[in-house]
Amino acid sequence: MTDNSKNIKDFVRIAEGAPSSRPSLALAPRTRPSNNVLEIKDLKVYFNTIEGELRAVDGVSFSMRRGKVMALVGESGCGKSVTSYSILRLIQSPGKIVGGSMIFYPHDEDPADIAKLSDNDELIYHIRGGKISMIFQEPMTALSPVHTVGNQICEAILIHQKATKKEAEAKAVEMLRKVGISGPEKRITQYPFEMSGGMRQRVMIAMALVCNPEILIADEPTTALDVTIQAQIMLLMKNLQKELGTSILLITHDLGVVAQMADDVAVMYLGKIVECSDVRSILKSPRHPYTMGLLASLPGLAMDKQRLHSIKGSVPSLTAIPPGCPFHPRCEYFKPGLCDVGNPPPLEEIEPGHTAACLRAREIMKSGQQSVVSSQ
Ligand SMILES: Nc1ncnc2c1ncn2[C@@H]1O[C@H](COP(=O)(O)OP(=O)(O)OP(=O)(O)O)[C@@H](O)[C@H]1O
Ligand code: SF4
Ligand SMILES: [Mg+2]
Repeated sequence: MTDNSKNIKDFVRIAEGAPSSRPSLALAPRTRPSNNVLEIKDLKVYFNTIEGELRAVDGVSFSMRRGKVMALVGESGCGKSVTSYSILRLIQSPGKIVGGSMIFYPHDEDPADIAKLSDNDELIYHIRGGKISMIFQEPMTALSPVHTVGNQICEAILIHQKATKKEAEAKAVEMLRKVGISGPEKRITQYPFEMSGGMRQRVMIAMALVCNPEILIADEPTTALDVTIQAQIMLLMKNLQKELGTSILLITHDLGVVAQMADDVAVMYLGKIVECSDVRSILKSPRHPYTMGLLASLPGLAMDKQRLHSIKGSVPSLTAIPPGCPFHPRCEYFKPGLCDVGNPPPLEEIEPGHTAACLRAREIMKSGQQSVVSSQ
């Protein structure tokens, strides 16, 4: 959606409007926290494949603040979608949630550990679509081609809310109007194939938000759309999020989108979170070399007007994860004997509310090498 020639300083400026740093990420007590809507701790999702056990998500921990947008970023295959599908318990065989917790704190109900629910637990049907809903990358995979959009939105309302068919229809019309679809009374009688890609995506947003969920998961919600429509849809989501107070988990590759939409950011690499903080801190003062690399490889950044940087090498296979720090073969700060031995570095608080999984994060920070925003 964004003009990638934007300088990182522009991104930081956009993010400047965001509230200052996150509260400390210290574990919340097992009572209802006032601030977090979801706390994921040490989530593990493995796939049993013929190549062996594939650890798609391997110890992911992050918290979502109520009413805020959390962006999950990282290269393709790092486990973003698997993480988000786990929250809705949509992982299918050969995948399995093998460990961890996902505590959901609805504002008017008791907290629930989604990881501990069985696949056909009544509670998960109540949560899925009603309390936590999802916008998929390609609306045609989520919308039924043989039902009108009106029927599909009404069904969501009738499943999760007490409403008559007439009330559901009125709500569907109102929601379609809210997402910017003109003539919604007529549109509800149409089928998805009668609509443009942008309009279908709006219908999906309407469907996802019509039950006023507490969390909306948006997995690359606009990549199938052209750039102008992408920008409109993102703006729409941001406005609705503000109006309805929904918490959003936004999965995207686009750091421009992150700067415009997110309050907090979690960076993923090879099935793990390697850095997490508020958007401003991540963009201005990244503490993990992988995040630094992602930011420095943005066209237009050109640290001190040098050549455009790219992270060396490629993401290793999940079945051949390097020992020690999984990022070490690609890291500019790699120290032999330290970074390539033992267990992966834990995610540690480097500054209040800012965590990174790097053994040298403090050292790099002190040396001042971490700044990707040059003094240009
Ligand atoms: N059904 C499956 N069977 C085997 N492996 C799977 C399955 N689904 C996902 N994976 C693997 O899990 C890993 C994480 O996949 P995931 O879809 O979460 O990546 P992603 O970060 O969302 O990537 P992208 O940005 O390309 O969407 C990948 O290596 C993928 O191949
Ligand atoms: S632990 Fe070492 S290899 Fe890993 S990110 Fe930090 S400096 Fe780089
Ligand atoms: Mg994905």
